[in-house]
Amino acid sequence: MPSDAYLPAIAGDVVVTGAAGFIGSHLVSALRHSGRNVTGVDRRDMSVHTESGPAPGEGAFQARTGDLATMDLGSCLKGVDLVFHLAALPGVRPSWTEFPEYLHCNVLATQRLLDACVQAGVGRVVMASSSSVYGGAEGAMHEEMLPRPSSPYGVTKLAAERLALAFAARRDTALSVAALRFFTVYGPGQRPDMFISRMIRAVLLGRPVEVYGDGTQIRDFVYVEDVVRALLLAAAPGRPRGDSATDHRTVGDQAVGDPADDDRAEVLNVGTGSSVSLNRLLELTAELTGLRPDARYGPTRVGDVGATTADPGRTRERLGFRPATDLRTGLAAQIEWTRRRLDPAHRPDRALGGTATGRRA
Ligand code: NAD
Ligand code: UGA
Repeated sequence: MPSDAYLPAIAGDVVVTGAAGFIGSHLVSALRHSGRNVTGVDRRDMSVHTESGPAPGEGAFQARTGDLATMDLGSCLKGVDLVFHLAALPGVRPSWTEFPEYLHCNVLATQRLLDACVQAGVGRVVMASSSSVYGGAEGAMHEEMLPRPSSPYGVTKLAAERLALAFAARRDTALSVAALRFFTVYGPGQRPDMFISRMIRAVLLGRPVEVYGDGTQIRDFVYVEDVVRALLLAAAPGRPRGDSATDHRTVGDQAVGDPADDDRAEVLNVGTGSSVSLNRLLELTAELTGLRPDARYGPTRVGDVGATTADPGRTRERLGFRPATDLRTGLAAQIEWTRRRLDPAHRPDRALGGTATGRRA
């Protein structure tokens, strides 16, 4: 759990959109743990945050259930200075067939939220962007590369990011924005559609692991608590800590510079700077569980990029952010979390104890 030292002095409540989601849930816990009062906004049920009531010293939680694109936002934002905007329809692959919903949740909802933030005098929005705005690229992805999303999802995340920067550039508001481009986030509670969660579950249950392609695609996997720490570090606006003059640099022939990127509008990668293949993940999972994954290789999915690797330099320079959790540790935590969540009838300890539901490595 990130410590209070990461939190700037925050006056008033903090609003977290997407509070019922994977990353949003972890962020809400960290904020409450640090004594902040949080209003969560989500169209899904948020009872996970209120089931046991606040522990001593924990901040309170208020749930506002609704759709950001249609609900009354003014009352949620009254007196609020800081908003973490995580709500979105994530997932690369379904975005080809469900585009109207992606537009609704990622673009329209973001525009509405930003407009309401300006009306309510919110000072700071920290929003979730995505590595998917880059599209396929050779080598490390730097914030000043020309974004070339290769999926409709990536296009909507780029649109949301650019909308936020446009709001921050308005002269009639003091709103500042940090758009954090998360790379592939994993850890306890990871969305069930994502590879690591599907792989762990399948391995523990002794079922086949469906791999899209030959498993050589690589991702920069970043642990969810590290992502939460980056979000908290980004909560305080301010001038770049490093030498901003050196930051507007050329990356191959793709340098575009970004006049919007200053102390009121920042785009920052949140990744580790190193990547591994799905095949390596399968090996690591075998080592950690003692079970042999039954990988079934199939066609590559449209819009899937071959590689993602963050250039972590700007985020390190500006936020002092360095990921703390290595892949083996983070994967072990997610495996353990999944074990506990599985139906007792399929508990992996039975498998490990001999009546295998999973296959021994
Ligand atoms: P998630 O689906 O678990 O959480 C998103 C939440 O947003 C959900 O609870 C959903 O109900 C809510 N939501 C969606 N549309 C809404 C709307 N119109 N009104 C109100 N609530 C709405 O996803 P996640 O993995 O936690 O991702 C959080 C954010 O991080 C998203 O913006 C996503 O694009 C971004 N991101 C995630 C990853 C990753 O690897 N998980 C990587 C890059 C970027
Ligand atoms: C993830 C998130 O899902 C996006 O929300 C996020 O924006 C994106 O990271 C990002 O980095 O910006 P992705 O990298 O596709 O997207 O993560 P996964 O869904 O876990 O997929 C990783 C790889 O595993 C992909 O190549 C995918 O095709 C593959 N995969 C996924 C499988 O082989 N099998 C599966 O069952 C699921």
